[in-house]
Amino acid sequence: MNLDNAVVLLKKDTKTVYRDGDTVIKVFEESFSKADILNEALNHARIEETNLNIPKLKGVNMIDGKWAIFTEYIEGKTLAELMSEDPSNFEKYLELFVDLHLIVHAQRQRLLNSLKIKTARKIDESDLNATIRYELQTRLQSMPKHHKVCHGDFNPSNIIVSDNGPYIFDWAHASQGNAAADAAITYLYFKLRREDEIAESYINLYCLKSDTAKQYIMKWIPIVAATQSLRSSGDEKNLLLSWADVVEWS
Ligand SMILES: Nc1ncnc2c1ncn2[C@@H]1O[C@H](COP(=O)(O)OP(=O)(O)OP(=O)(O)O)[C@@H](O)[C@H]1O
Ligand SMILES: [Mg+2]
Repeated sequence: MNLDNAVVLLKKDTKTVYRDGDTVIKVFEESFSKADILNEALNHARIEETNLNIPKLKGVNMIDGKWAIFTEYIEGKTLAELMSEDPSNFEKYLELFVDLHLIVHAQRQRLLNSLKIKTARKIDESDLNATIRYELQTRLQSMPKHHKVCHGDFNPSNIIVSDNGPYIFDWAHASQGNAAADAAITYLYFKLRREDEIAESYINLYCLKSDTAKQYIMKWIPIVAATQSLRSSGDEKNLLLSWADVVEWS
């Protein structure tokens, strides 16, 4: 297997995503463990068993000593591209985005990892002091236990709108649990990009359509800020750690 005829779709420090004909190849740098890649592929395969429209997983293999995940290529534009190229239809795209998030949360897949257990572990691993960690763990345990499919990184760049309808991908962080935590992660995604207006529009529409109280989502903010801080660095990490300070948001 080589990538000589492949086109780069996206390049980051830690991974490169290629298209080779009808296949997408996500190649991870050596810093990723074998378990990380197999976990992402397993999550993807488990989500394929739900009713969601997602690219089919084709395989996992090594290319030049690096792990790679192979999936079906979906022709179309990401919702992020559509939102920025066609701002006059932003409201329509936001509505589609929220509707898709609700469809994700309507799914069940009892074999996925537990959001609550994963979140508790990440709070422990965070750089927060023991007092804040204790407060966050107490808050987490008081939250209702649900079993809804949660994407874990639901944002417009992880959705492709094709002629066959929208496809959702990038299931590396999927779990089952309380959907409000998943909505809080999406809210923080926009906040971190300084897209405050979109963050508010998203959360207001999510709350309206799901009949959820906004205060309830806000209770999750410090918890998910703590967990997201493990995935970031520099200013972004400092911002997330400050948002994890429970007193700020209560
Ligand atoms: N199956 C696919 N079909 C078409 N394009 C894809 C597909 N998978 C990924 N892409 C394109 O590649 C980009 C990056 O893919 P992906 O979201 O899987 O990686 P990532 O964002 O780097 O992952 P992570 O969020 O885990 O860091 C997408 O935004 C999309 O433009
Ligand atoms: Mg992505």
